[in-house]
Amino acid sequence: MAEKISFEAPRGMRDFYPADMAWRNKVFDAFRAAGEAAGFEPYDSCIVESYDLLARKAGEEVGDQIYHFFDKSERHIALRAEMTPTLARMVAARQKELSFPIKWTAIAQCFRYERMTKGRKREHYQWNLDIIGEDSVLAEVEVIGTAVDALRRMGLTTDDFKVRVSSRRFLSQLLADSGIAPEKHAQVFLALDKRGKMPDSEIAAMLRDGGLTEPEVEATFRIMETKSYEGSPELVELFRLAEVAGFADALVFDIGVIRGLSYYTGIVFECFDAKGEFRAIFGGGRYDNLLTTIGGEPTPAVGLGFGDVVVTELLKSRLGEDSVSRTGGIAVGFMTDSERDAALRLASRLRREGECVNLSLRSQKPKKFFSKAGESGALKAVFIGPDDVSAGVARMKDLATRQETELPL
Ligand code: HAM
Repeated sequence: MAEKISFEAPRGMRDFYPADMAWRNKVFDAFRAAGEAAGFEPYDSCIVESYDLLARKAGEEVGDQIYHFFDKSERHIALRAEMTPTLARMVAARQKELSFPIKWTAIAQCFRYERMTKGRKREHYQWNLDIIGEDSVLAEVEVIGTAVDALRRMGLTTDDFKVRVSSRRFLSQLLADSGIAPEKHAQVFLALDKRGKMPDSEIAAMLRDGGLTEPEVEATFRIMETKSYEGSPELVELFRLAEVAGFADALVFDIGVIRGLSYYTGIVFECFDAKGEFRAIFGGGRYDNLLTTIGGEPTPAVGLGFGDVVVTELLKSRLGEDSVSRTGGIAVGFMTDSERDAALRLASRLRREGECVNLSLRSQKPKKFFSKAGESGALKAVFIGPDDVSAGVARMKDLATRQETELPL
């Protein structure tokens, strides 16, 4: 006997059965519609990248989470953990031809060998929005506003979520004002990003390891109590423009938003559900130096990644597990095999006319046909019996209103 293989997907990977696919489509449809409505152009690439492009600075968690291997020609290959390095590579490759600023979007499958917790898988789809070649805060406003629009299209309101915003530039300035040298700031960011995930005593130890003196560690914790963004002109402008655009009620200032990726240079943000039950819905920020880091020309950039996992959990909890619509369209069935040709002919004709038609594959009793049609999410149903064939007319029933219309066979 053959050895029994597990029916489970590999740990952390997902199967999408039709009911799961209905949710995924709902989320992707909102991503695509919001991106298109705001003028972002779709792009794509392969999930496989060269490891060298993705290899990280020490201390960045995502570096340890990369799935990588050697191909048969000993090339060091990795599955992308995020889209941003690939985007930077693609832009650097065409830097002379592109006319900046560009606004690009993708839905990218990403792989991270994570410790599995609620909302974190080892594979997820991540909607990316990036504006490259623009210094002005309007770029941040457009990126965040588009993500907020997608959440609204999914059926959520600004009571359900909040985008927490800060600025690494502002935090750097506060640290420098306390006498902490700029070359220590990257280490400070990585340590502070762990706040809430580990005890402050461990964070203090990380800060000391990063070369901070005891008074500097204390000053850092005091800075983390900052409640006003008035000292940051870019944050003042961001909140003002969000007001103009009509989504200021979705924004809150939070000095504690740092982000775990080291390439961010300015404004950073993370979106959470308002009750604080789930992990981050999306995150992003300004990363003005990434292109030069990989050898491209200096180019300002801002963008975000918005995963499918957390938002789907949130939608199910707020809107209900069954709130997503299935197929729609018209169900066509027949009573005995003598009506099979007539049913196939009608289904084919309706499809040519542009309808979506689900034709039963077997003869059935009417009761069973109508109950299955309802379950499948069909909006209308036509059931053909011997009398309909001899009359040359069938009746199409609207399953919601129960109204019938006649169809020539
Ligand atoms: P990130 O914060 O690492 O940023 O990921 C962005 C979003 O992807 C998260 O907020 C979450 O929705 C989703 N996500 C990340 N990891 C997982 C996981 N293991 N399981 C489920 N969902 C996950 C970035 O990746 C940046 N590259 C975003 C960006 C684009 N910044 C500028 N442009």
